[in-house]
Amino acid sequence: MTKLEGDVSYPDPAIGASSHVPDPDGLRRAAAADPAGFWADRAAELEWYEPWDTVLDDANAPFFTWFVGGKTNIVRNAIDRHLAGPNKNKLALIWLSEDGTEHRTFSYFSLARQVNQMANIIVSMGVRKGDRVTIYLPRIPEVVFAMLACAKIGAVHSVIFAGFSADALQSRIDDSESKLVITADGSWVNGSIFPLKDIVDDAARHTPSVENVIVVKRTGQDVAMDPLRDHWYHDLTVLPIAKGRCETEVMDAEDPLYILYTSGSTGKPKAILHTHGGYMVGTYTTLKYCFDIRPEDRFWCTADPGWVTGHSYLVYGPLLTGATTFMFEGGPTYPYPNRWFQLIEYYGITAFYTAPTAIRSLMRFGEAWPNRHDLSSLRLLGTVGEPINPEAWHWFHRVVGKQRCPVIDTWWQTETGMFQITQVPGEPQKPGSAGKPFFGQEAEILDDAGNPVPDGEEGFLVLKNPWPAMMRTLFKDDERYVSQYWSKYPGKYLAGDSARRDADGYFWIIGRTDDVIKVSGHRLGTAEIESALVSHPAVAEAAAIGLPHDVKGNAIHVFVVLRLGYEPGEGLAEELRRHVSQHLSPIAKPDWIDFAEKLPKTRSGKIMRRVLKARALGQPEGDLSTLEE
Ligand code: WTA
Repeated sequence: MTKLEGDVSYPDPAIGASSHVPDPDGLRRAAAADPAGFWADRAAELEWYEPWDTVLDDANAPFFTWFVGGKTNIVRNAIDRHLAGPNKNKLALIWLSEDGTEHRTFSYFSLARQVNQMANIIVSMGVRKGDRVTIYLPRIPEVVFAMLACAKIGAVHSVIFAGFSADALQSRIDDSESKLVITADGSWVNGSIFPLKDIVDDAARHTPSVENVIVVKRTGQDVAMDPLRDHWYHDLTVLPIAKGRCETEVMDAEDPLYILYTSGSTGKPKAILHTHGGYMVGTYTTLKYCFDIRPEDRFWCTADPGWVTGHSYLVYGPLLTGATTFMFEGGPTYPYPNRWFQLIEYYGITAFYTAPTAIRSLMRFGEAWPNRHDLSSLRLLGTVGEPINPEAWHWFHRVVGKQRCPVIDTWWQTETGMFQITQVPGEPQKPGSAGKPFFGQEAEILDDAGNPVPDGEEGFLVLKNPWPAMMRTLFKDDERYVSQYWSKYPGKYLAGDSARRDADGYFWIIGRTDDVIKVSGHRLGTAEIESALVSHPAVAEAAAIGLPHDVKGNAIHVFVVLRLGYEPGEGLAEELRRHVSQHLSPIAKPDWIDFAEKLPKTRSGKIMRRVLKARALGQPEGDLSTLEE
């Protein structure tokens, strides 16, 4: 049983003793003394076609490279190496449909066949090593096949969350210059159809690079098919080209694996670029150590493959460790709030990784729902995406984990690729703190001038050491990579979060310091929300801010200045909310719309969101010296 003392939770010592990291402090010291050596040892646990010459090359910092000269392919380690050993016939992937009537399972062997088939089909569409492929699919097994198939042949996948709308999809396809889009006719969302293919058709009108669209049949309604461009996936799989065998491409460790668009401070979303070698070593090691994962585990990460959490810990991490990954098409409360607990029981999930927002939404329905189920298969719990409030932590720990399972809080980002501030299972935990930097990492809290702040005080979170799964750059934008992450404090990675460190070295994340809003753990940019709003004819100017929300963490509050001739009113507010939903995403739908006469701006014309936020919260407005008249 866990011992709770004050605000610290001490897991049963047996959990730590039997884990992959029985002596975290010892390993932390060893890794700090020789980070490159630590990572080289981890990389040596995986298979390489050719070994690396240099573990870390920092000559061209901040363009760091890892395992330089090494040759591998993440698929060699996520699939191929398991085929030669005892894992061949064990389950790699279990999938359940939203309505619970369809259940599909894949051993490592059958997953390999599916991936090979899709890889051959993608090659037949003219896609070659280095080409980008956009994947816009629901949470169904084909999204896993598509990602791995791209990786296998050396194509670069760009997965777009299937909750984004046509404009968002279009700009991302266009920016990546994808030749091929892989989508489905539709996706199931709480019993209704979200029309993915219609959205692709809309988007592809303005994306000249797209030559082919592969369509997986999921929802079954009629969709328009362009005879020259569109192909049903099930028609392709019966063709002779769709063989179940395909060679895995030999890749340089530093060859790109994927790009993933994420929201930043300004302007259009940026594409984070990750590579085969370092990303593979980083996701493998963090999942193995922090969730103590072994081949006999059934790991359930509830994130969508459209976000980085789905990439690293639903698809790649669990397969790299040889575990079984579980994917559920639906959400936590449909049709009833016992859905997830029922599935934990039914499938014998051993480690369960989700977001604080989901925990808070389940808490509202009460303990009776989880208590109807036998959750004794669980060994470990984890959270990600936003700070967890201690009430939600304790509920998760007590009601779901029955005070047996450590709750592993993991702080990381699309950019970091892998956990950065976290714990391993035997370590004392402080509810609400993400823990300590991962082995080989050091973090600091700095003031504006770059001086470390005293423990307990808030400041900017930075990471001091490079790590293997770090992004290599922003796709097509090296300059922005440097200016955004490495310029404020030269030589240190600026995370974009504010945080505190306590006297025990635990980090407490407070929230974003830039114009990113985390809504239900989803990462959105104020600029994207604002540009969706100003694309409506009634809107002259808009400003979006995040305000605290009990369940979602943050809610979106927008201030809108109307064009001449438009009158504020409930009808227009509703129309604008719908407009954002249709042009950006339903997840970006504003919670409140305020009509304003004008917006507070600096003399150079920048909207002062900080002032809007302070006013909305009734807090002091701070320094207004730069405010225009
Ligand atoms: C926030 C998600 C507190 C943080 C993996 C970060 C967290 C942003 C945590 C990245 C956590 C993520 N505790 N805050 N455990 N995990 N965040 O790129 O603000 O979607 O900068 O990556 O999420 O969001 P992203």
